[in-house]
Formats: sequence, C-alpha cells, structure tokens
Amino acid sequence: MEAAGGEGDVAAELRQRLAAGGQDHVLRFWPELDGAARRALAAELCRMDVAEINRFFRRARGDGGGAAATAAAGLDARMEPVPRDVLGSASRDRGLVPRWESRGLAEIAASRVAALLLAGGQGTRLGVPYPKGMCDVGLPSRKTLFHLQAQRLRRLQQMAEEQHGTPCHIPWYIMTSGRTMESTKEFFQKHRYFGLKKENVIFFQQGMLPALGFDGKILLEEKGKIAMAPDGNGGLYRALGSHGIMDDMEQRGVRSVHVYCVDNILVKVADPRFIGFCLEKGADCGAKVVEKTNPTEPVGVVCRVDGVYQVVEYSEISLGTAQQRGPDGRLLFNAGNIANHYFTTAFLKDVVNIYEPQLQHHVAEKKIPHVDITTGQLVQPEKPNGIKMEKFVFDIFQFSKKFVVYEVLREDEFSPLKNADSQNGKDNPTTARHALMSLHHCWVLNAGGHFVDENGTRIPAIPRLKDANDLPVECEISPLVSYGGEGLEQLVKDREFRTPLIIDEDGIHELVNNGV
Ligand code: UD1
Repeated sequence: MEAAGGEGDVAAELRQRLAAGGQDHVLRFWPELDGAARRALAAELCRMDVAEINRFFRRARGDGGGAAATAAAGLDARMEPVPRDVLGSASRDRGLVPRWESRGLAEIAASRVAALLLAGGQGTRLGVPYPKGMCDVGLPSRKTLFHLQAQRLRRLQQMAEEQHGTPCHIPWYIMTSGRTMESTKEFFQKHRYFGLKKENVIFFQQGMLPALGFDGKILLEEKGKIAMAPDGNGGLYRALGSHGIMDDMEQRGVRSVHVYCVDNILVKVADPRFIGFCLEKGADCGAKVVEKTNPTEPVGVVCRVDGVYQVVEYSEISLGTAQQRGPDGRLLFNAGNIANHYFTTAFLKDVVNIYEPQLQHHVAEKKIPHVDITTGQLVQPEKPNGIKMEKFVFDIFQFSKKFVVYEVLREDEFSPLKNADSQNGKDNPTTARHALMSLHHCWVLNAGGHFVDENGTRIPAIPRLKDANDLPVECEISPLVSYGGEGLEQLVKDREFRTPLIIDEDGIHELVNNGV
C-alpha cells in the first residue's frame, strides 16, 4: 500500500483493515513512534494478510473440532511403522548400493539433480547470532558447515564429470529467512561461493508469520515492531512458488531435488546413492533415516498414520509410543528422520500448485518476549505465553504416490549441530567435530592406512567413538579429495601417519607438534 497522502492516511487505512481482523491493538503505540519507526511498521503491516493469519490461527487451534484437533487425537493408536517393502538400506542392501550410486551419478552428470538447503531457521538452541551454516565447529581446517557442503557439491560434480565425460552442474538452492538472508548472502560473496559458480547458487527467502498470544492476538516485539518468526521449514513450498523457483528448476532441466537441513555436519549433499535408490524405485518422494535407538532422542520418526506416510515429530509422540519395541527388541518406531528428503520436480510442482494450501500449521507454545499492550512495558515471560505457527517440510509426504525410505548408518551420515557446547553433551560443536574426524579416520583405515603415536607405535584400529567422552584420532579429509571415502587408497594404502592428519587438494599434511 503506497502512502497516497500523509502518514495519517496510511495509519487510518491500516487501522481500518486491522480492526476488521480484530488486530488493531498493534497500532496502540503509533502516536509515540517517530517517522522512521512508523514507516517501518506500516510497511510490515502492509505485507501482512491479517485475515489469512486469523484463519491460520483458527485452523491450527482446531476450532470446531477442525482438522488439527482430529489429527492430534489418538495419534499413537493410529501410527504404524514403515513397512519393509518401501525400505532400502545402505548396509543391509549393500550389494545394490553400487547400482544406486551409478544411477545417481548418471543423473547428476546429466545435470538433472539439484540440492536445496533449508537455512531459514534461527538456531535458537545453538544461540549464535549468525546463521548456523556459518558455524565453524573447530575442525583443523576451520571450515564452516556451508564450506563443507559446497565442497561436497564440487567433488560430486567432478566425480560425475569424470565418469561420464560431460560437464555438469548441481544447482544449489538456498532458502533463507528474513532473519538469515543478508548475512548468508554476504558470507557466500565473501568466500566467493566456495569455488562454485555464482549462477548455480540460488538464494530465496521464505515467509514470516507473527507470533500470537493464546487468544490469537498479534504480539509486539517492540512498540513499533511485530514479533515475527519464519513460518517453518515447510514454508519452503509457498516460497518455491512465490519466488519462481519451480520455473528456474524447469528451465535448468532439474528432475530430482535433494532437500536437507543445514546443521548436519556429515550430510551427503545430493547423495548419488539416495538419488539412485529413489529413481530405481520410481519414487516421487523419499526420506533418509537412521535407526533411532533412544526413545527420547529429538528426532521425528517416519511412519504411517491412517495409512499415509508422515513424520511424527519428537514433540508430538508420547513417551509410551516412543518406547514401544518390536519382537526383535528394536524400537518399533525407529525410522529416525534426519531431514534429508528426495522429491521429483513433478511432485514438487503439484505440491506448490495444488496441495500447499492444505498443509496445516503446527503450533509451538513458546515464551515470547513482548510489549504489554496496556502498560507499554517489555515482558519476559517465565512460562509459555503464546504460539508460533510453522509448517514442516515433511508434511507433504501424505501426497506422495510412491514413497520410499532409505536407511543409512548414523556414524556415516548424521551428526546434527543443535546445542552450544556449554548446554549439554549432545549434538554440539564438539560432537559434530568428533563425528567428522571419526568418520574420516575410518575412511583412512578402510583404505589401508595406519596411524602411529609419537613413538611410532601403531594406534589400535578402533575407528568408531563409543561415547561422547572418547577422543577421536584427529583426521580431516577435504571433501574435494573424497566425497564418501572413495579414492583414498592411492594416497594412504600401507602408509603410516601421525596425527593430526589433514588430507586436502594440496596433498597430505601431518601437523606434527614438535614443541616449537
Ligand atoms: C528437524 C526435523 C526433525 C528431525 C531433525 C533432525 C523438521 C520440522 N524437523 O528437527 O524431524 O528429526 O531435524 O536433525 O524438519 N528451518 C528453516 N525455516 C524455518 C525453520 C527451520 O529453513 O522456519 C530449517 C533450519 O535452518 C534447519 C532445519 O530447517 O536447517 C531444521 O530446523 P530445526 O528447527 O533445527 O529442526 P529440528 O527441530 O532439529
């Protein structure tokens, strides 16, 4: 809405529209705001569809026994584990993996595969003031999560080109939010896109929604500022449509998309095995999982509810159901979602054009700092005082016509960065760093290399860490040298190394600490 007259006209028009939706309290402090603050608030409110927000709230709250209430009711009784026939496993089906990998690489070589990174989250638990992908977890190379992912893409392109003799590229779509866009873009510019072609790194922004009180009223973060939050990683589907991303994919000839979360240091971006597996099965939608072994681990589980596939989030499953075990002693719901999904572009197109409006928001009750409308004081609540509404990326599984699940080993592919080192011993920079070095240690052992201590005595080859207190052998291999452990024999076979060992595109470096 353009200011036709003065600020007074804008305020009057806004007030009328907000009042119609019962949200005009957000202008309560208008008279106290200076010109710049008024313009900023008016611009924010002009972008907002109040009627739609009210509708979202009513639906998410399940008014009149709506879909959300029905969905939540008796969820446990309606959940079934994933049936064996949709499941492929990188370890149990080891014999098939080479076929899946070469199928995936062929697709990459034909430039028909894209990676799509979900990077719009606020990283609240980690508590860093910048996007999570910019985190350096203290690896010897000091590479950030973005850096590792970019280099994995470069290596994959190179592998596909070498095998098929044709130049190819993997477009990398990066979804950010109002909270992460500028800093993410600047970071990529500063690092020259980590050696990728700029035109193949495509940023787009997801939407934001206001936080609401339990009564559905929009909360103010400051007197002239709405408390806004990204609309969940399922905001992807609306953003794909509104930013023309589906058209871009079509123009580039993309047919398969690997969608993943930013925080997993071991993520195999555009994993050719996963892509190949999904293609072989003729799937339009797939999820990569690891076996969930601890009932309280904060991962969603892939399962069926009322016969359709979905992820039941860790916040939505009851402890009793999470603890159930099957006849083999394993958790009954053990398909732990690691937020790595496969979609065909045809399926995504249907989601964007047809299904997206049907997706329900999930409601998270939160402690939301806000300005009290009566007193104008800033309130820091001690218990939840309102809600944030989010769509989830996996909520489209229900629309899939052919859904598959691909199980991988946790130690090969999953170590998420969720918490700060100070918070607890799980999913933090230390565990992420150790997981990567432990995997790379294992790659060297598998390729026939050995490690020796400062006296030249071989270190026993126990590749995996057993718990968070075990210290890994310090070993880091650049993704530009090896994507998944391949190609290392010629570098390490029958050789002995001291640690820290770094293998990168310039060669092998043993950083011997000689006390200097
Ligand atoms: C997520 C999964 C959970 C899975 C776990 C594995 C969802 C909804 N949940 O949980 O099932 O077991 O990862 O680690 O996917 N993001 C956005 N926009 C947003 C919010 C988040 O892009 O509005 C991105 C984040 O940047 C991140 C990803 O989505 O890359 C996951 O977000 P996060 O809130 O960390 O999810 P979890 O609760 O850990």
